[in-house]
Amino acid sequence: MKEKLFKKADFNQFVAGDSHFEKVLTRGNLISMGIGAIIGTGIFILPGIVAYGTAGPGITISFILAAIVCILTAMCFAELSSTFPVAGSTYSYGSIIFGQFPGWLIGWALCLEYVLGVSAVSSGFSAYFVSLFNSFGVILPRAFVGPLDPSNGTFINLPSVIVLVLIYLLLRRGIQASTRMNTVMVFVKLAVVITFIVVGAFYIKPENYHPYFPMGGFGVVKGAALVFFAYLGFDVIPSSAPEVKDPQKNIPISIMVSLAICAFLYVILSAVLTGMVNYKDLNFADPVVYALNYVKMGKIAFLITIGALAGMFTMMLNTVYGGSRLIYALGRDGMIPNTFGKIDPKAKMPISSLNMITILAVLLGGFVSLKELTSLVNIGTLVSFTFVASGIIKLRHRTDVPHSDFKVPFYPWLPIISVILCLLLMTQVSLNSWIAFLCWFAIGVVVYFLYGYKKVN
Ligand code: ALA
Repeated sequence: MKEKLFKKADFNQFVAGDSHFEKVLTRGNLISMGIGAIIGTGIFILPGIVAYGTAGPGITISFILAAIVCILTAMCFAELSSTFPVAGSTYSYGSIIFGQFPGWLIGWALCLEYVLGVSAVSSGFSAYFVSLFNSFGVILPRAFVGPLDPSNGTFINLPSVIVLVLIYLLLRRGIQASTRMNTVMVFVKLAVVITFIVVGAFYIKPENYHPYFPMGGFGVVKGAALVFFAYLGFDVIPSSAPEVKDPQKNIPISIMVSLAICAFLYVILSAVLTGMVNYKDLNFADPVVYALNYVKMGKIAFLITIGALAGMFTMMLNTVYGGSRLIYALGRDGMIPNTFGKIDPKAKMPISSLNMITILAVLLGGFVSLKELTSLVNIGTLVSFTFVASGIIKLRHRTDVPHSDFKVPFYPWLPIISVILCLLLMTQVSLNSWIAFLCWFAIGVVVYFLYGYKKVN
């Protein structure tokens, strides 16, 4: 049994299985996909509440700390993805390096990240959508703009459902149509973030930076665990590997560039925000809009709403895309029914897996309140990041795998530090999230033994 659980997957078989995809994505497409997936709701929501309750103006350091964790892990991702340019990202790497069962658990954790991430962002989209209508004096019927909660008079989050269906239809039109739309939206949100930074910089009052660490260094570390969410998403780049031109070169570069651009913008935005408004006044879910109103620049607050909507749209677009490729990889390997691992010959994409992730996201985003569940996304990702970083150490001991163009520098220290930092951030995740995550893991173990274990040789 132990032999079967830890039997290593064959990389060449994965490559053969993925050969029906069309190789169309360029480096530019990948960078735009990375930024598209990374900048979502996080940067528009988290800096306010986290500065207020956890880190104070030191939130800028929290953003830097979280960026360091992500950049270290991103380098490990870059090495793995250039060694194994196959669909399924961490699930596939885990199956090749650690074996079938650990690979499945990593894939299962990643499913949680994708499905909950998209659902949570679709709820955020709905909230911003409603407030956009409100700002024009149009009040949408309450019953249709909230999760299923009859005692509160809400039944369905219709904007979430509609946007997810639109994303589904766009993805069905093919990867090229989706990337064109993605690029436009990415420019819109970058323009909005940069506009805020440039305008806000004129209103910084240095006294707002005193005290810089009102809740001490501990608050900054805790803050990093919370704002970590804002950086998630770069792992959709390696998910697209079979559809990328020259993946060995383009994937590592695109991961690093998109993450570096986002980290740079996040750090500056949080510094500007906490300079404009005292952290004690930032207890709002829309701190960026609040700050602009605060300095009497309410006219451009409208722009921020548009940027936030564009940000959330691209995050969902890219994550649904990455999630469908992950579900495809699980089906390809017989971990879930094979039908999910089939590529539609006409559309040249895995339609059943796209249907599956859309249905799950619609059910969660349309009917469930996901506020508390976002920290589950963080823990799912931290677990998968820990496997990625430790995977590099295992990988370097393998002689039967292809040569990679990109190697993590300062080996073995960089992956070791990356593992330690991920573990450090995990200690900051709430107990409830840990319990929920362990339940998810337990379900994964049951599913594996009921299905994958029997199906896979
Ligand atoms: N990084 C993504 C966001 O902030 C998950 O929405």
